[in-house]
Parts: sequence; structure tokens; C-alpha cells
Amino acid sequence: MKRKKIMAVFGTRPEAVKMCPLVRELKGRDSADICVCVTGQHREMLWEVMRELDVSAERDLGVMKSSQTLFDVTSGVLEGMKEVLTSESPDVVLVHGDTATAFAVSLACFYLGIPTAHVEAGLRTGDIRSPFPEEFNRRAIALTASYHFAPTTAAAENLLRESVPPSCVFVTGNTVVDTVRYTLRESYTHPLLEGTEGKRIIFLTAHRRESLGAPLEQMLSAVRQVAETYDDVLVIYPVHPNPCVATVAETILGDCPRVRLCSPLGVIDCHNIMARSYILVTDSGGLQEEGAALRKPVLIMRNVTERPEGLAAGVARLVGTETESVFRSVSSLLENGALYSQMSLAPNPYGDGNASARIADILEERLL
Ligand code: UD1
Ligand code: UDP
Repeated sequence: MKRKKIMAVFGTRPEAVKMCPLVRELKGRDSADICVCVTGQHREMLWEVMRELDVSAERDLGVMKSSQTLFDVTSGVLEGMKEVLTSESPDVVLVHGDTATAFAVSLACFYLGIPTAHVEAGLRTGDIRSPFPEEFNRRAIALTASYHFAPTTAAAENLLRESVPPSCVFVTGNTVVDTVRYTLRESYTHPLLEGTEGKRIIFLTAHRRESLGAPLEQMLSAVRQVAETYDDVLVIYPVHPNPCVATVAETILGDCPRVRLCSPLGVIDCHNIMARSYILVTDSGGLQEEGAALRKPVLIMRNVTERPEGLAAGVARLVGTETESVFRSVSSLLENGALYSQMSLAPNPYGDGNASARIADILEERLL
């Protein structure tokens, strides 16, 4: 019988962080041909993660351009995938999450009648406009996917409520926990950690599309106030290369002595610095799960999250995007030791680090 071909397609840093352990698992088993195609929605941030997580790509659409719009990415990926899918003719295509890449790839597969498997399926806020456009993307991907790998039972229940057949929905855990197990080092040092003894590190990321403009300015103003108020606090902020983010970060925080702005970190540095931080303050999706895996309290600068498991477990809190609410929430966590202990002792609801093996088992059983 002809060997089956599984193609994994991703394009951004967060997708790479979560798809690389699965690609390594599938390649290690050697039970099918595995082909990796990157869309290049991100460039240097994507390649750095792949190098560190030991995954290479056979194909690269190279779609990224500076200040790209959703039209640029979606149309570039859709058009580029036509040739890749036609010439490679995979038996199934793995997509991840909710990016423009994942949406456009799943649409291309639908047009060509190629089955897709959706990793990190079933996350929902219930508001099609938030996060924008990710909530739309993940719902659209679910409409055509043949396999839905939900990280938690709550995500699986969302899919069942949308009438996805139960036989296509699998609870696997989130592959990000697999990655955290791969990247964490017991003994680790980095220039950004120099002189931080006795300080409480706040690890900050803020760059989501829906945060750009006034919300980002408000969030960063709150962080400035925190750094000016607490002299035992040091903020580390890897700034996204998106020009709309870098300029605001430099303007609001650039001259603040207790804030260290830096270029995007590699994922090994990122996870190890987070593991040595006191609190994570972020608008990111992935950091909410990584914080839970690392037992670090996460303050989420958003009004809604598609990851309610962290809130229910007690490791994460929604703090809004306005200066006053962000400042108040960070301050109360810095000042309230009991709250801090409670949040950092919360169980991790996102899996045990074996999600990739579970997904590979299911693919082997159903496909091969
Ligand atoms: C996208 C994802 C979002 C994810 C985020 C992670 C969609 C709809 N959104 O956001 O879910 O959280 O990526 O970062 O797909 N850039 C570089 N080098 C890089 C990467 C980006 O210079 O390696 C700059 C470019 O100027 C690019 C800009 O960042 O135009 C924005 O990148 P883009 O992928 O369009 O970001 P978002 O859509 O905001
Ligand atoms: N990350 C990284 N370097 C950084 C900042 C983040 O490697 O400087 C990783 C982080 O650990 C997480 C992922 O990038 O795995 C999150 O990506 P992002 O915030 O861009 O997207 P989101 O999770 O919001 O979709």
C-alpha cells in the first residue's frame, strides 16, 4: 500500500511553537511521509523558533511584507497553497489555531477536497469580533475540518455544541506544554537577567492586532506607572517587530529605568526568562497557557479570553485594557502575597506534555 503523506502548514511564531513538537513526533515515528510547508506569514520570528525546536521546512511561500494587511496574508497564502497542495497531494493537512495562515490553508484544502486536521480546535470567546479576526478564523476552520484536536474538554464541548460529529473530536491537551518541557533548562542565564537578584520580574508582551492604537498606549502607560511605583520591580518586554508596536513601546517605555525593552526573544530564552519571572502581563494567547504550565500568575490585558480554563483554575485573570484597571490589577497582585500564592499554586488545565503523542496516535489509527 502507498505510504500516506501528512503535510503540516504554519506561518507564524505561535503556530511554530505549538506545531514543532507534533512534527518532531510524527517524523520520529516514520509511519507516514511528513512534509512541512511554511507560509512565511512571519519571517525571522518563525525561522528562529523552528531552528530552536529542531524542525525544518520543505516548502516556503514567503508571503510576509512589512505592515501587511489581512488581505495581503490571506490572498497570498490561498494563492500559494494552490500550487503546493496540487503538486504535493497530501492525504491530510495539519493546521493550527486561528491565524490568517491557518484560515487560508484550510480554505485552499476545502477548495481542493483535501481533508484537514485542526490542532488546538474549539477555542471560542463567543464574540465573532474578538479577538479579531482570530475568532472568525477558528470557527471557519472548524466548518471544514475532518479531525478536531481540542486541547481541553471545554474546547471539545464548544465543538459539539456547533454540531461537529463526536467521532471527529478528540481531547488531546495543548502541544504548547510539550514545547515547554523541551525548552526549559534547570541551569540558565541571559544578559537580560543580569542585576535582577532580589527584583520581581514582570514579563510583558503586548502586540495583538486588536490592541494596536489606543488600547496598547493605555496598557503600556499602566506598565510605566507600575515600574515607577515599585522599586523592586523590573519589567522585561520583548517588542514585536510590527512597526505599529515598536514605535509606541519606545515612546512610552523607552526612557523608563526599570523597563528593559528588547528584540523578540528566541523561544528557549522566552520560556526560561518567563520561568524566572514573578508575573506575566500580556495580551497573548499562548502566554496564558505557558503561564499555567510554568505556574506563573498571568494578568491578561483583554476583556474576553478564549481560554477560560486558566481563569477557572485560578492562574489567570482578565484585567481589561485601560490604564487604571491594568495598574490596579498589577498593583494588587504585587501587594497581596496570599493572592499571589493562590494563583501560582493553581493546577495547569492545558495538558501533561503528551499532546503530540496523542495526536500522532489518532492520526495513525484513523489514517494509516
Ligand atoms: C498574527 C496573528 C495573531 C498572532 C500574531 C503573533 C493573524 C490574523 N494574526 O498577528 O493571531 O498572535 O501574528 O505575532 O494571523 N513582522 C516582522 N517579522 C516577523 C513577523 C512579523 O517584521 O518575523 C512584522 C511585519 O511588519 C508584519 C507585522 O509584523 O507585517 C505583522 O505581522 P502579522 O502576522 O500580520 O501580525 P498580526 O496579524 O498582527
Ligand atoms: N514568544 C517568543 N519570544 C518572544 C515573545 C513570545 O518566543 O519574544 C513566544 C511565546 O513563548 C509564545 C508565543 O511566542 O509561545 C506567543 O506568540 P504571540 O504572542 O506572538 O502570539 P499569540 O500567542 O498571542 O497568538
